[in-house]
Parts: sequence; structure tokens; C-alpha cells
Amino acid sequence: MSVLSYENVDISYNGNTVVKDINLKLEEGEILGIVGESGSGKTTVIKAAMNLLGKGGLVTRGDIWFKGMDIPDLSEKQMRKINGPEIGMIFQNSGSAFCPIRTVGDQLYEAMCSHEKISKDDFRTKATELFEKIGFSDVQRILKSYPFELSGGMQQRVGVAAAMLLNPKVILADEPTSALDVSIQRLVIDEMLKVRELFGTSMIIVSHNIGVIGVMADNLIVMKDGQIIEYGKKDEVLNSPKEEYTKKLMSAVPKLKR
Ligand SMILES: Nc1ncnc2c1ncn2[C@@H]1O[C@H](COP(=O)(O)OP(=O)(O)O)[C@@H](O)[C@H]1O
Ligand SMILES: [Mg+2]
Repeated sequence: MSVLSYENVDISYNGNTVVKDINLKLEEGEILGIVGESGSGKTTVIKAAMNLLGKGGLVTRGDIWFKGMDIPDLSEKQMRKINGPEIGMIFQNSGSAFCPIRTVGDQLYEAMCSHEKISKDDFRTKATELFEKIGFSDVQRILKSYPFELSGGMQQRVGVAAAMLLNPKVILADEPTSALDVSIQRLVIDEMLKVRELFGTSMIIVSHNIGVIGVMADNLIVMKDGQIIEYGKKDEVLNSPKEEYTKKLMSAVPKLKR
């Protein structure tokens, strides 16, 4: 059974339909990539799975199934139990989610407390264990740092690890490496692959960069003008793209080297 599935989903903002007829399935441990030019509807698609479309945003048709629940039908209160502990989100700029005048450790502790009762000592033990497993070597320094003391790449890596503190089944990542230098992008990608390997987390990764998606994804969706125009195994889509648009996306972006 799929972990998350969209069936015939349309989404509109203020009455204008911007995403049409989305059908997708995310399996356990799968990394699904969604690629497409800016404005093609990628962010809208994944925000809908967290009921975070914001004012004016609405799923007007279809269902988004998660654990037998249709996400668009759920209340804000119900979503608070899902967003974070069950479905984690990684944004483009994890750094901007931090308050500048408090340490990273204090903020991660507080975020965790809003979902489960945990002492500060237990939090520190848990965070240290998790961060080290994922590949951090200097966890205490990171926890004691203020956000501005960490590089953009490190902030983003912390954002990925922080999402995993609640051990969600699904991670939705919106352009997780797009703000970073190419050399640093690789570190974040490797960290996310490590998370999948260790915890079997299912992920949807959105990027306008088909190179990033090419390194990470098992399956690939190509979006254009709010619709899915290609969907299949990554190698099939990348090696024999059916659409001219997909070829254009591929030629526009240098691939990341191993
Ligand atoms: N909050 C919003 N209000 C109104 N229109 C929006 C909003 N967010 C996105 N849109 C519109 O929806 C379409 C898809 O946007 P988006 O999902 O952000 O695309 P992408 O992530 O692929 O760049 C665009 O035409 C965009 O202008
Ligand atoms: Mg977007």
C-alpha cells in the first residue's frame, strides 16, 4: 500500500485552478522527484499534502490519502498531529526558519516539545545520537551555535536532521538544495539519501534542477503548467524523455558529478 497518494487532485487559489488532475503514489522508502520550470505547480502540489496552501488555496477536486485519511478534509487541529511527527517538511532556506537570537539547540528542543514531552537532557542525547548517525561530527558545537554562526549549507543540513527528530514516515522537501553552491548541494543530497537508508523514510523532492533530482530520485514526475506531463522510473524519464519540454529542462542544467 502507498504511504501517500493523490487521486485526481485539482488545486486553486482564489478560484483560479493552477494544478490539474494530479495522480501520484509514494511508496514506502521511495524517493519521488518532481521537476518542472518555475510556476509549474510543484510547491502547490506538496503543500496540499500538509494542508498548508494558505489563504485562498483550496483542493477543489480529488483526494490526498495518508493513513486512510483524506488530508484536505482534516481540521487544523488534526493537521498539527500530522505535520512534523508524520509528515516532515524541508524548505529551501532552513536558516530563515530559525530565530536569530537563540541557539539552534534551544530552538530544536522547543520545536520538539510542542509534539512530545521530553527533558532537555533526553533531547540532547537523542539529537546527538541522530545527528551523528546522519553524519555530523560536531553536534555539540552546532547545538550551541546561533544560526548566523552556521554556513548556509550547514543550516540546511541541520534543517534535514531537525525534520528527522520526530521520525516522520514521509519527508516533503521543496527545493532543498537550490539556495546552495553546487559543492554543498552534494552534502545535503548525501544526507537525505543517508536518512532514507537508515530510516526507510519516503520522500518527495521538488526541484527545478533536474540534475539534483537525477542523483536522488527513484521515480520522476515532470510538471508543466500545473499538470503532470511525464511520470515514470527516473532512468526511463531521463534516458528517453517523451516530451520536448523534459529535454529542455535537461539541457538547461548541468548534472551534479558523483
Ligand atoms: N499563494 C498563492 N496565491 C495565488 N497564486 C499562487 C499562490 N502560490 C502559487 N500561486 C500560483 O500558482 C502557480 C503554481 O505556483 P507554484 O506551486 O509555486 O509553482 P512552482 O513551485 O513550480 O514554482 C503559479 O502560477 C503561481 O503564481
Ligand atoms: Mg516552488
